[in-house]
Amino acid sequence: MKTIVAFSGSTRAASFHTRIIRALPGLAPEGVQIAHFDLSDVPFYNQDLEGDAQPAAVVAMRAAVAEADGVILAAPEYNGSYSALTKNTIDWLTRPMGGGALRGRKVMVISVTPGPGGGQRISKTLSEVLPFFDNQVVAVVNAATVHEKMAADSDTVTDPDLVAALTAGLAAF
Ligand SMILES: Cc1cc2nc3c(=O)[nH]c(=O)nc-3n(C[C@H](O)[C@H](O)[C@H](O)COP(=O)(O)O)c2cc1C
Repeated sequence: MKTIVAFSGSTRAASFHTRIIRALPGLAPEGVQIAHFDLSDVPFYNQDLEGDAQPAAVVAMRAAVAEADGVILAAPEYNGSYSALTKNTIDWLTRPMGGGALRGRKVMVISVTPGPGGGQRISKTLSEVLPFFDNQVVAVVNAATVHEKMAADSDTVTDPDLVAALTAGLAAF
């Protein structure tokens, strides 16, 4: 069994990124399980909180990634770039320098927007930054007008092209 740990860069209750993560188990191939890690309790990166001072949520997050077979970054595009939460997650997972839990992991990037952009800009940024940590970006999934591509009353992706892209991405791990 492969375990892919998934992070949503939005803690908004109705976050499309979180809702898509909740839909992923239904799209994963046999033998692949999705572990959604809730980032709500992870503090802002602070080097004073390294070593013995590591907060429990940071210890848990680093362990989840270290034990996983891959990582999904569901990354909202904020002002053409990262949400603070996505950036914070990467910062924690790439320390200590040279030995962070993210190093060398396979990563799938998902970025969707209700507007027309489709999260292309943050996806491009992540695709450029992640190889710096020896990450292989196995798939990038973008979707514009995402509110029209999910069920209104459940965490279900309804758009066939988005379903196909997510399914192919999960199969690429
Ligand atoms: C601070 C902020 C900046 C945003 N900047 C962009 C942007 O640059 N491009 C874009 O397409 N959408 C932008 N949006 C809209 C987000 O794509 C939209 O709020 C999206 O639903 C956020 O993801 P979530 O649903 O997972 O919370 C921005 C939203 C916020 C709150």
